[in-house]
Amino acid sequence: MTHVVRVDIDHAPYDILIGNDLLTADNIVPLLPQPRVAIVTNTMIAPLYLAGLVQSLTAQGVACQQIILPDGEKYKTWESLNLIMDALLTERAERKTTLIALGGGVIGDMTGFAAAIYQRGVPFIQIPTTLLAQVDSSVGGKTAINHPLGKNMIGAFYQPRLVLADLGSLNTLPDREFSAGMAEVIKYGLIDDPEFLSWLEANIDGIMARDEALLAYAIERCCQNKARIVAADEKETGLRALLNLGHTFGHAIEAGLGYGAWLHGEAVAAGMVLAALASQAIGYLNEQDVSRVTHLLQKAGLPVVSPALGAARYKALMAQDKKVDAGRIKFILLRQLGEAYIGELPESAIDAALLAGCDSAEVVAK
Ligand code: NAD
Ligand code: GLY
Repeated sequence: MTHVVRVDIDHAPYDILIGNDLLTADNIVPLLPQPRVAIVTNTMIAPLYLAGLVQSLTAQGVACQQIILPDGEKYKTWESLNLIMDALLTERAERKTTLIALGGGVIGDMTGFAAAIYQRGVPFIQIPTTLLAQVDSSVGGKTAINHPLGKNMIGAFYQPRLVLADLGSLNTLPDREFSAGMAEVIKYGLIDDPEFLSWLEANIDGIMARDEALLAYAIERCCQNKARIVAADEKETGLRALLNLGHTFGHAIEAGLGYGAWLHGEAVAAGMVLAALASQAIGYLNEQDVSRVTHLLQKAGLPVVSPALGAARYKALMAQDKKVDAGRIKFILLRQLGEAYIGELPESAIDAALLAGCDSAEVVAK
């Protein structure tokens, strides 16, 4: 059965389809303004899913350009974006040519940005193939590349016309990547859905065993939550910032260790623990709340101890966060589990969270 979640953005509403056997021309062709697409993917995903998609589209008379990039977060760069531009220009892709992102969040973010800027904007479809991309990055229109000085620093808000989340594509996803996606799943429960958090705690073993019915429910619930938040605040003037729970610390971990050393979801998991510890330091959460967070993340196979980059380095990296306002770092914090808010932290609470949440063995070893 295919589940449909509507993303009700005023100027550009679209559907997310969640189900099996979705990567077919029937789902895509009705949305194409011309029978021509450019599919952007990478060397890992191309052998798995590209041929089937191309075959289905060409059988319905759609011309398919294939753009295959190197795989990995470290290639989420200007250079890769330029490879997409070179390919589109060489093949004379037109304004009505639709770009299709076939892959995880890295491919989705880069292809979306390419679609936003090629000829000032061309149609764009997301086919997310990782759990993380299905529950988060393919929905809501944030597109970007990284800069050595900061993650996702160069990009645009640009909405897709359709998201196809095919459950079958998760069968080939390595366990570590599956766990990384679970960080964003758990994030939704912590932000504003305590009922979903309890459901996750009750069903975590089945989800990690990739029970398809449980997974379909979890993906749909996450997409509903994200769709609601994005429809209310597309350009992140307020509410949408809550989706960055764990990301201020997490982006510092990713940049501090070098992109790709930890997966994005792993950094978000450890970052959410730091956010919970900071929330405890300012008197909102108690020890039991923090344990609930770490226990669930651990059961999802995620790291809960952050690397000991040093407090000064964390603060320097976090000072480059996109939520910084007039030089002040805004954090996503927890008033209670299932109730996040945007706030500032006294230096002492940041220090307390880093002291409690970073790898003390590493500090000693330094
Ligand atoms: P990813 O795109 O690097 O994919 C993870 C790995 O899995 C890659 O090696 C990829 O090739 C491989 N892969 C993808 N699908 C596969 C499949 N079905 N079978 C086997 N292997 C597969 O990483 P990700 O976790 O999907 O995304 C992380 C990125 O998403 C980060 O760059 C992050 O900044 C971004 N992100 C963006 C948003 C947003 O709102 N735009 C939200 C969250 C994260
Ligand atoms: N992943 C954060 C957002 O989409 O706003």
